Amino acid sequence: MSKSLIVYGSTTGNTETTAEYVAEAFENKEIDVVLKNVTDVGVADLSGYDIVLFGCSTWGEDEIELQDDFIPLYDSLEDADLKGKKVSVFGCGDSDYTYFCGAVDAIEEKLEKMGAEVVGDSLKIDGDPDRDEIIGWGSGIAAQI
Ligand SMILES: Cc1cc2nc3c(=O)[nH]c(=O)nc-3n(C[C@H](O)[C@H](O)[C@H](O)COP(=O)(O)O)c2cc1C
Repeated sequence: MSKSLIVYGSTTGNTETTAEYVAEAFENKEIDVVLKNVTDVGVADLSGYDIVLFGCSTWGEDEIELQDDFIPLYDSLEDADLKGKKVSVFGCGDSDYTYFCGAVDAIEEKLEKMGAEVVGDSLKIDGDPDRDEIIGWGSGIAAQI
């Protein structure tokens, strides 16, 4: 059985809900899921999984700001051995802002820089999380593990 870790940072609960739907999609595909708030995760916790998914909402006005809790993990990703590791990124935002889901792009860029293998396109949720959309995305990622 494949093993996955889903790490999320969420202030008002939207990315947390998204992470739960992704977990549901993975479990439907018989993939073992560990779902964790980023407040409980350090780089040492990222190993031992077939795929790690990162979920983070975007804040800030004129520049991209990651969700507060996610910043320490983002900053320490340089210390993680991510070469060849399968990863995928999702997050919630609002397309009225200049940098729609900018945190998703920033995290994906850093993971690529660290040599991780980004699986599939990232998922950017505009407004409230839509269960069907998220389950569909998660199923697509699960099929590529
Ligand atoms: C002050 C403020 C700044 C925000 N900045 C952005 C932004 O730059 N880009 C974006 O896509 N969404 C932005 N958002 C929207 C949030 O990312 C969105 O509400 C998201 O659903 C929050 O997810 P969370 O509940 O998981 O934290 C902002 C929201 C607020 C209140």
